[in-house]
Amino acid sequence: MEVVIVPDAPAGGRLIADALAALVRRKPDALLGVATGSTPLPIYEALAAQVASGAVDASRVRVCQLDEYVGLPAGHPESYRSVVLRQVVEPLGIDKGSFLGPDGAAEDIPAACAAYDEALRAAGGVDLQILGIGTDGHIGFNEPCSSLASRTRIKTLTQQTREDNARFFDSLDEVPHHVITQGIGTILEARHLVLLATGAGKARAVAQAVEGPVAAVVPASALQLHPHATVVVDEAAASELK
Ligand code: F6R
Repeated sequence: MEVVIVPDAPAGGRLIADALAALVRRKPDALLGVATGSTPLPIYEALAAQVASGAVDASRVRVCQLDEYVGLPAGHPESYRSVVLRQVVEPLGIDKGSFLGPDGAAEDIPAACAAYDEALRAAGGVDLQILGIGTDGHIGFNEPCSSLASRTRIKTLTQQTREDNARFFDSLDEVPHHVITQGIGTILEARHLVLLATGAGKARAVAQAVEGPVAAVVPASALQLHPHATVVVDEAAASELK
């Protein structure tokens, strides 16, 4: 695992956007796994700026979601499908038909989860997966004590994560209790994992993930098992590293 400490979130965004641009030049139809939430926004903004300036053409890139809320009505602005469309697919000029995600409105959720794992496999696997980290050490929505071998499945959000995500909704009551998330085993199949963590609120989780033992109680520690994992942290998020 490589740990890169940058001064602040915009610097982290630029660094990862440069890596993405290099990947897209090498492989124009790369399958890019995207996380949602606040952390990756500087990455998407920096990459969109490169697209707008003509420095990179991302029109053939394929995008896949890391996770999706269960039970939000189709088209809800905070469904992760809507968020990824708004923050990634549209600004990068990506074809909406090249966009994969789990179906959080499916009647048969286990079948939708298995279908998503199969769709990722059929698409040739994820080339680069962007990850954030929860204050409790989650990746995707694999909350503490998720199996390190887990596949895409339904998970119950912890109260902490629902409270963390309530800022995107009008009230805590509106935050769904369930999500479909790529499992840790699924995430580990991506060719390159890039986790960005910014802000002092992530410092403890980062230290546990990077310097602690590999343990299901800190799902992000599974990155230590991956042959090509990069953790980009700003100085605040690095503040508890030894
Ligand atoms: C979202 C996701 C989550 C977030 C994490 C951090 O798709 O996979 O693991 O990355 O909850 O969220 P932020 O970046 O909002 O602090």
